[in-house]
Amino acid sequence: MSNTDEHGHIAADTTEDDGDSALGPVRCCDERLFLREVVVGGRSEKTRSWELASALLCRNSAKHSQSLRESLTSLHSSILAFQEENGRTYHALSAGKNTTPPLRSVTEYILPNDDGENDRLDLQHHLDILVFEGRLALCPKAESGAKQVLDVGTGTGIWAIEFADLHPEANVIGVDLSPIQPDFIPPNCTFEIDDVEKEWTWSKPFDFVFARHMCASFQDYQGFVDKAFSALEPGGYLEMQDLDFPMRCDDDTMSKDSYIYKWTQGFVDAGENLGRPINSAPKYKRMLEKAGFVDVVEKQFKWPMNRWPREKKFKEIGQWAFANVDGGLEGLSLASFTRGLGWSKEETLAFCMNVRKDLKNVRIHGYWAVYVVYGKKPGDKGKGKEGE
Ligand SMILES: C[S@@+](CC[C@H](N)C(=O)[O-])C[C@H]1O[C@@H](n2cnc3c(N)ncnc32)[C@H](O)[C@@H]1O
Repeated sequence: MSNTDEHGHIAADTTEDDGDSALGPVRCCDERLFLREVVVGGRSEKTRSWELASALLCRNSAKHSQSLRESLTSLHSSILAFQEENGRTYHALSAGKNTTPPLRSVTEYILPNDDGENDRLDLQHHLDILVFEGRLALCPKAESGAKQVLDVGTGTGIWAIEFADLHPEANVIGVDLSPIQPDFIPPNCTFEIDDVEKEWTWSKPFDFVFARHMCASFQDYQGFVDKAFSALEPGGYLEMQDLDFPMRCDDDTMSKDSYIYKWTQGFVDAGENLGRPINSAPKYKRMLEKAGFVDVVEKQFKWPMNRWPREKKFKEIGQWAFANVDGGLEGLSLASFTRGLGWSKEETLAFCMNVRKDLKNVRIHGYWAVYVVYGKKPGDKGKGKEGE
């Protein structure tokens, strides 16, 4: 499965030349309703989970947040005490653990954990599912046989909930630094608040460890892969899904002087300064092999940055990808650029205004490279290679 043509390129739509709106029909209506309609229409067997996901997307955030807090009273208050910075909130668990040079950060994970970011994560989940043609994961274990599943950095828990819903025989644990998961969940799904960069304390081995959109989260990606290897039973799978930075382009329409390119390169520089690289996805395959995984598979996909492609499916993916970034631009940028590059809040917000102009320019044929990498821990228990 791949979302590019046989040459690996996406054809541009030459009739799209207004350069002014990347979303087309989405721009002036309720984006969430539009997106839900598109996806449900194309994938009826997933209706139940889409309904659930949509309910999550449209949840009453304030009410949700209140009930979540009530159900987590047993947790230490430091976990629940989100940190405020530049008008956004960030996780408090393990805050300040990175005290090594060159830059010291208040918290390490660079994206907020507030309602705006959580809605973006849920929207991004739909984008992933669209690109993977309805599949939550691509490794053989995801299709059948998984019994003990760990979703690393579960975020709003949307992936874990859908996986648990589709696989009632599996026990699914979602773990995250932030308690931002709902309490209306399937009985075979639980959430834990923990830092996976610390020692893993789960005693029962997993047969499927999943990690999606964890770029810029870890200091040591090989260390994470090694831990997942140890926590898996023989035959178990690790699957990682991630974007690569900076943004790519297969023709000469995105100059290195453009705001959009400089913005995505800024994340690479910030990630290096903060010691949390955002461009590790192309190295995942090698890391899995180094850890001892076998039958390691890497698949690459593309998310056009807006509706610039000619082909309908790519255009649709581009509309989603645009909504994903446009709606979260400031939240995505603030911590990285202020903590990682030393910019002021005002400089970052002014830069975002220019980035937004490029982002919706359909004459720039930029795209996000998406990597899916999975591998099997050798041994007897699991089934074999892809396709078996
Ligand atoms: C970009 S979000 C992705 C969420 C989810 N995987 C998804 O695809 O929707 C990354 C998540 O990883 C969590 N995270 C980052 N570092 C972590 C760590 N060391 N331990 C546990 N969770 C972590 C963040 O709190 C955030 O919720």
